[in-house]
Amino acid sequence: MKITIIGTGYVGLVTGACLAELGNDVFCLDLDKQKIDILNGGGIPIHEPGLEEIVARNRSAGRLVFSTDIAASVAHGDVQFIAVGTPPDEDGSADLQYVLAAARNIGKHMQGFKVIVDKSTVPVGTAERVANAIDAELKQRGSNATYSVVSNPEFLKEGAAVEDFMRPDRIVIGCDDNSLGNLARAHMKKLYTPFNRNHERTYWMDVRSAEFTKYAANAMLATRISFMNELANLADRVGVDIEAVRHGIGSDPRIGHSFLYAGCGYGGSCFPKDVQALERTAQDYGQDLLILHAVEAVNAKQKQVLGAKIMARFGADLSGKHFAVWGLAFKPNTDDMRAASSRVLLGELLRAGATVSVYDPVAVPEAKRVFALDFAENPELLENIHYATTPMGALDQADALAIVTEWKAFRSPDFEQVKARLKHAVIFDGRNLFEPALMTDLGLEYHGIGRSVLTRS
Ligand SMILES: NC(=O)c1ccc[n+]([C@@H]2O[C@H](COP(=O)([O-])OP(=O)(O)OC[C@H]3O[C@@H](n4cnc5c(N)ncnc54)[C@H](O)[C@@H]3O)[C@@H](O)[C@H]2O)c1
Repeated sequence: MKITIIGTGYVGLVTGACLAELGNDVFCLDLDKQKIDILNGGGIPIHEPGLEEIVARNRSAGRLVFSTDIAASVAHGDVQFIAVGTPPDEDGSADLQYVLAAARNIGKHMQGFKVIVDKSTVPVGTAERVANAIDAELKQRGSNATYSVVSNPEFLKEGAAVEDFMRPDRIVIGCDDNSLGNLARAHMKKLYTPFNRNHERTYWMDVRSAEFTKYAANAMLATRISFMNELANLADRVGVDIEAVRHGIGSDPRIGHSFLYAGCGYGGSCFPKDVQALERTAQDYGQDLLILHAVEAVNAKQKQVLGAKIMARFGADLSGKHFAVWGLAFKPNTDDMRAASSRVLLGELLRAGATVSVYDPVAVPEAKRVFALDFAENPELLENIHYATTPMGALDQADALAIVTEWKAFRSPDFEQVKARLKHAVIFDGRNLFEPALMTDLGLEYHGIGRSVLTRS
């Protein structure tokens, strides 16, 4: 099928590459010329395991092209995916300016029937706004071209995006129940047939319910995390191991093991903004989502937990102190630094007078870009960030180690070397990677999240 993807970011690039891999003829549009130049030069602007090979293979097969040419992109695809960003607006609502600009561009150039697919995460009612934007453009040029707007939210996880896209748990598609909607449904059914070979994974529903489903999923996952984080903080006070508790409750099939890890807060491009946007939608309809207010508040506080533990141990004034930080990205296997917990920790440490040596296997270039923004008002603090090229290299002369991202490479370090390199053998583990009892046996002072278990000796 002939597919256009508008927006070649994490979602758009993965969607385009994977649809090309299945034999479709895919045109990826982005207005960011630098991004398109990188892709046309054979590079990849983001870190995503497995993506580079798929892009290269399908580019050379001629099934995947990258361009900034809007008119050509509209002419190409019978199905037009809108996969542009929907960042939070000042009031927390989803900023739809990019989605609506993409819709207007389609309206300006489309000739025959088009299926317009909202793949970006967008609030309930956005499909109508997309249709209105297209209608206005069609009216202006007296065109009677037809289209149908479909909602097809994306559930991929950064770091496992290709695998998630190729083997989705579910495909949610919202279609209008009318003749053009039925035509759109037939296109979507054909496009997604290869994903349903083993068993049917598609959930068909109305457009508004599909839009809502994406927010409901992210809000539920964020709620589980904040719930466990709040319990972990209590566990620290009462002398309980939250990891034991996690096993104890996760074995209940009504609860399950996934997404129950306590840690130093969630980040990324989705949970923080989607929780906020859902709260905002509720307010627009006269309802207060009390649970989500709490989820957000707990998460904001949780990002400060590592800093608080470090200051409780080393004092509020950290002048002359030096800390090693392992992990900058908001989660492993990505270089995405959006709302990453490391940004809060570094802000606290540097503003309290400390210096840091940081290590991340892939996120350093992106980290340098975002730290320049975070410290725009006191750029002299940037001098106090040293970028190590190995995890062990970050430890030399550090008073303690703080772990912020659970990269696999951090899971089994040579603890004797860790001890030997650090000035004080102290670990603040924001992702609960290690067993407290083992740390004690090794002579390491260990501060996890909710792991201050009290036992009778
Ligand atoms: N990143 C994720 O893990 C993820 C997962 C599921 C859903 N989503 C949702 O998917 C959407 C995209 O997220 P992302 O992380 O891929 O964003 P991104 O910021 O990585 O990419 C968006 C791209 O769209 C381009 N763009 C903006 N306006 C454009 C226009 N009018 N025409 C063409 N290109 C345009 C930008 O230049 C950018 O390259 C968001 O709504 C997000 O909430 C993201």
